Amino acid sequence: MEEVPLEAQRSPAPAAEAASPAETVITIDSPDAMQELGRRIAGLLRPGDLVLLTGELGAGKTTLTRGLGEGLDVRGAVTSPTFVIARVHPPLGAGPALVHVDAYRLGGGLDEMEDLDLDVSLPESVVVVEWGDGKVEELSDDRLHVVIARAVGHEEVLDDVRTVSLRGVGARWSRGAGLEALSGALSE
Ligand SMILES: Nc1ncnc2c1ncn2[C@@H]1O[C@H](COP(=O)(O)OP(=O)(O)OP(=O)(O)O)[C@@H](O)[C@H]1O
Ligand SMILES: [Mg+2]
Repeated sequence: MEEVPLEAQRSPAPAAEAASPAETVITIDSPDAMQELGRRIAGLLRPGDLVLLTGELGAGKTTLTRGLGEGLDVRGAVTSPTFVIARVHPPLGAGPALVHVDAYRLGGGLDEMEDLDLDVSLPESVVVVEWGDGKVEELSDDRLHVVIARAVGHEEVLDDVRTVSLRGVGARWSRGAGLEALSGALSE
């Protein structure tokens, strides 16, 4: 029998996967479901993870982060950080802290964030940044981009419907890392 070279037996190279990262799209129809999605995403997160939340005012970024905080079992209620740019939620158990950043007014981007002098180790925390697109990517080569969009509908009943797109960037997320399993979970 002809021998197949080892290289040829392997699945696509990681570089090829990174070039076309998988996107998981989930439809969410209530604030509660958004929070539940946050809890489930929290189950996939590890210390050092960076999550970027994108979506217009009132899209549900903070609501999702509230679920992340519950799932990560951290101290303190997650609220809109109106008067602070970042808030640290220490872990109640053995897990990572949650650092919740609102980059809306973070004009200077990353430098300014480093100046915040957060009393926490970012590599040991989960860092979630609202409005972080284009500002804090340098924090990590590995990122989870979450884009929340209002469903475009003509009926009032669609007001609470959101489309949530999850896209992992970098080696950390190169094989989906469980993101694909989230889509079915909330549609029941
Ligand atoms: N499916 C949904 N998911 C999330 N929030 C929803 C949904 N439907 C309605 N809402 C409402 O939309 C609002 C979302 O507010 P939230 O503070 O989470 O948004 P945000 O994206 O963080 O806004 P901001 O840009 O001001 O920080 C809440 O009042 C929530 O009750
Ligand atoms: Mg918010």
